[in-house]
Amino acid sequence: MREAYDRYSNLSVLIHWTVVLLVVANIVIAIAMEDNRSLFPWHKSIGVTVLLLTLIRIGWRIAHPWPRFPDSMPAWERIFARGTHIGFYVMLLAVPLLGWATVSAGKRGTGEIFGFIPWFDLPVPKSPELRETLGSVHEGAVYFVLLLLFFHVAGALKHQFFDEDVVFHRMLPGLRQSHMDDEI
Ligand code: HEM
Ligand code: HEM
Repeated sequence: MREAYDRYSNLSVLIHWTVVLLVVANIVIAIAMEDNRSLFPWHKSIGVTVLLLTLIRIGWRIAHPWPRFPDSMPAWERIFARGTHIGFYVMLLAVPLLGWATVSAGKRGTGEIFGFIPWFDLPVPKSPELRETLGSVHEGAVYFVLLLLFFHVAGALKHQFFDEDVVFHRMLPGLRQSHMDDEI
């Protein structure tokens, strides 16, 4: 069964664009926090928020039908697009979990989120070497997210400007069914 309106639901759209903003903000904060450690609590808090939003999003995605690809889309492109989406879901869990594991392996642990919510540590041994390794893998995983993002945005632009189909629009807020009918 597919979504009745053949577009993503409002919650999917809201979470998609919120996560885009939070991931970009967290990469900028991560770069800035090398010189300004006071930004680190924000990095942790935003990262854990991305983790929680992704869990909600995956649950919602499984429970609700999603829009089909346009019939004109060739099989290779469907496989590539879905592969990128699955890669994103895996990485949106893996990147924050690796960051969380990094701080959990450190002496001070994770501490609080948003300055007042006590947060627990992941069950990893406290070890400076492990902390360093996890930190590097966490950072390396972000490069993979950037690679996925490159293909993802290239695909979105291709659909919008070359194929001129509904794919980009159905991930935008507020598009009504009547407008979609015109385009399908
Ligand atoms: C959307 C989620 C996240 C993104 C995109 C992200 C991105 C990054 C990036 C790009 C760096 C490298 C900074 C640099 O060295 O230039 C970094 C470092 C770091 N992040 Fe994250 N991060 C996320 C979530 C988290 C979370 C949830 C935590 C902890 C609870 C965390 C803890 C850390 C730590 C401790 C470092 C320093 C690693 C080291 O010492 O080598 N991150 N993060
Ligand atoms: C870090 C940034 C981003 C992440 C993690 C991300 C993640 C995702 C994921 C996981 C999906 C699949 C939804 C599903 O079917 O379950 C999706 C769909 C989509 N995204 Fe992104 N996205 C990002 C940035 C962007 C940007 C910058 C654009 C626009 C230029 C964009 C446009 C779209 C569109 C149009 C779809 C719908 C594709 C379809 O209908 O099959 N995304 N995104």
